[in-house]
Amino acid sequence: MKILTALTAACATLALAATTALAQQPIVIKFSHVVAVNTPKGKGAEQFKKLAEERTGGKVKVEVYPNSSLFKDGEEMEALQLGSVQMLAPSVSKFGPLGAREFEVFDVPYVFDNYDELHKVTEGAVGKALFKKLESKGITGLAYWDNGFKDMSANKPLRKPEDMKGLKMRIQSSKVLGDEMKALGALPQVMAFSEVYQAMQTGVVDGSENPPSNFYTQKMHEVQKYLTLTDHGVIEYAVIVNKKFWDGLPADIRTALEGAMKDATKFANDIAKKENDDALAGVKASGKTEVIALSAAEKNAWKKALLPVHKENESRVGKETLADVYKATGFTP
Ligand code: LMR
Repeated sequence: MKILTALTAACATLALAATTALAQQPIVIKFSHVVAVNTPKGKGAEQFKKLAEERTGGKVKVEVYPNSSLFKDGEEMEALQLGSVQMLAPSVSKFGPLGAREFEVFDVPYVFDNYDELHKVTEGAVGKALFKKLESKGITGLAYWDNGFKDMSANKPLRKPEDMKGLKMRIQSSKVLGDEMKALGALPQVMAFSEVYQAMQTGVVDGSENPPSNFYTQKMHEVQKYLTLTDHGVIEYAVIVNKKFWDGLPADIRTALEGAMKDATKFANDIAKKENDDALAGVKASGKTEVIALSAAEKNAWKKALLPVHKENESRVGKETLADVYKATGFTP
């Protein structure tokens, strides 16, 4: 009898120890993304990690996986929905395949002239309405992070829209971007970001569209002779989490993480423009890529060539959504 009592007590002690140990295990947030660390998003993710771990007193551990090291384009979203990863910050141009094609409103060419106009959309009613569309897919939108304005690159000088004719151009998985390239007479090729450098090196694609930060940190200046400052669109990110995971967090932890995300968002958006300016300076300094700045008249020729993409995609992105973006940015088609 004494032995049984001792055994029961020992089991109880063990069980208690196990429960305590488990309770002391940090909550792990795997944060996967596809760009380099020295980018607005890369640095934003590290800042979130720092603040989240500090403000939860280590009760949360954020594991950041940059450069497609955990999941690459085309895998990330499903992994998030399955809960294999808790947090992502994909480009808003990658939500079409998820069925949230309204996000492609960000891809209509030349609708944003500057970051202020972009923020009127991301921090306004449109940004919120777009996040609502993710809830039915088991995803919660937390914030929008900036990168920068896209430029066209290739191994031939691109000064006029007609110079794009027949070029194989890599794009993100967005129909609006496909139409953008077709409007320029180019051949769009959807491809994961992690495959672009090699595709340029081997000639699978002739060029692509990127903000300087992505162009430089992915070393595309080594395989692209020309970069034209078209500023025809933006790379913007939606920071998203698995809804079940987020809703299941203890309330105090979620509040601390929301605060950390708010401050990391300010941090990431405050550095975005400088990161791109510095990257462009790096491209120029490398002497490997000739940077072509367009005159106002030349840029107008690109705008004129790309304007039809708006009407073509009005029903895809939603007539109302597009009208709201025009209103917020003051864009007149
Ligand atoms: C791209 O695929 O070109 C970008 O979305 C990559 C990124 O996350 O900036």
